[in-house]
Amino acid sequence: MEPTINRGLDGINIDTSQICSIDGMKGELIYRGYDISELADKVSLEEVIYLLWEGELPDRQQLDAFRQELSELFTVPTEVIDIFRTLPKDAHPMHAMRTAVSALASFDENPDDVGAANIRRIGAKLVAQFPTFTAAFERIRNGQEPIDPDPGLSIAGNFLFMLSGERPSEAATKVMDVALVLHAEHGTNASTFVARATASTLTDVYSAITAAVSSLKGPLHGGANTAVMQTLEQIGSVEGIEPYVLDTLSQPGGRIMGFGHRVYRVLDPRAIILKEVSRHLAQESGDSKWFEMSLEMERVMDREMARDGKQIKPNVDFFSASVYRMLGFPSDMYTPIFAVARISGWMAHLYEQYGDNRIMRPRLIYEGPMGRAFKPLGER
Ligand code: SDX
Repeated sequence: MEPTINRGLDGINIDTSQICSIDGMKGELIYRGYDISELADKVSLEEVIYLLWEGELPDRQQLDAFRQELSELFTVPTEVIDIFRTLPKDAHPMHAMRTAVSALASFDENPDDVGAANIRRIGAKLVAQFPTFTAAFERIRNGQEPIDPDPGLSIAGNFLFMLSGERPSEAATKVMDVALVLHAEHGTNASTFVARATASTLTDVYSAITAAVSSLKGPLHGGANTAVMQTLEQIGSVEGIEPYVLDTLSQPGGRIMGFGHRVYRVLDPRAIILKEVSRHLAQESGDSKWFEMSLEMERVMDREMARDGKQIKPNVDFFSASVYRMLGFPSDMYTPIFAVARISGWMAHLYEQYGDNRIMRPRLIYEGPMGRAFKPLGER
């Protein structure tokens, strides 16, 4: 029988999991049994991290203890922050993120032990430190000094505070929390799969997360939100959307960034929520350009994909671009924000992988030559 090949591991189940369920036909995303549309604007990122890791939403006492645990871990070793000062000013933020995670391993007192207690200790450090070094990078590349974290603020609030130096409004903190909750977890997407595959050799957490950050950067994955905004900036107006989309789709392999998904065949439930967040921010700010351009791109793509009989809809990266723009982030910082959220999901999956591991080793079907006669160098 011909061996089957699933390119891109399409449809392949690598294990069972208790963390996340995605129904691509219904457009349903479940975190540990809770529908994301139920959670998104009702819980903080800290409650979602606790849920993803422990399997239950925390009660008040558990949440306070978890917040206290994380608040003591926000600070990043100065030596790691100082690496950013040695990078060129135009260094890609995701190259900087990857470097920071890798460097943190050398400052951890026990980086290589993959026992449950130690990976939980490292996981708490990483979810607490990602916002700190991400904000520090952004300030250093702009010639500003990093701002120390405020242990009294939430992860979302601290992130905004460490970027601007001002206490964020409740409204801005809420929007940041919703965006981070929506980006926290999504099953075996490419970067989570890379984290699990890397951990399956029983290498350390920092190595697995460095690999995940590397994978997330790609424009087909977490890099898409940056690509969406760079596309909108390049087009520049609502009137420019239709010609751009038609021209791109007319090219072989042409892709409109922020659309399509390996699993969703209907609108990504996260895009539904982020679309409304973007609408709200556009109304509040009076700057509706990016939201209007996004609506026009969605309209043209809906029409063109329906005509071609394809189920290509906006994904999580499409409307998050206009949300982050209206929050004031530069477009190349959108993927680092994705990583600030997804470190929670990556760690949840590492707990599962290390907890019941088998090394991952898929195969390729060899189609090269066989039985070739060797000739020494002098005779070739
Ligand atoms: C994320 O996996 C996850 O869960 C990821 C994520 C998470 O939370 O971790 O949800 C986050 O990464 C979302 C995806 C962000 N990427 C983009 O927006 C980049 C643009 N999208 C595409 O490159 C694509 O849709 C992928 C990469 C998302 C999915 O790729 P697939 O499943 O391999 O699909 P494909 O490229 O083989 O396309 C299938 C068909 C093709 O038609 P044919 O060439 O076979 O005739 O759909 C078409 C494609 O042309 N298509 C698109 C399209 N995406 C698919 N056509 C135009 N524009 C697009 N964006």
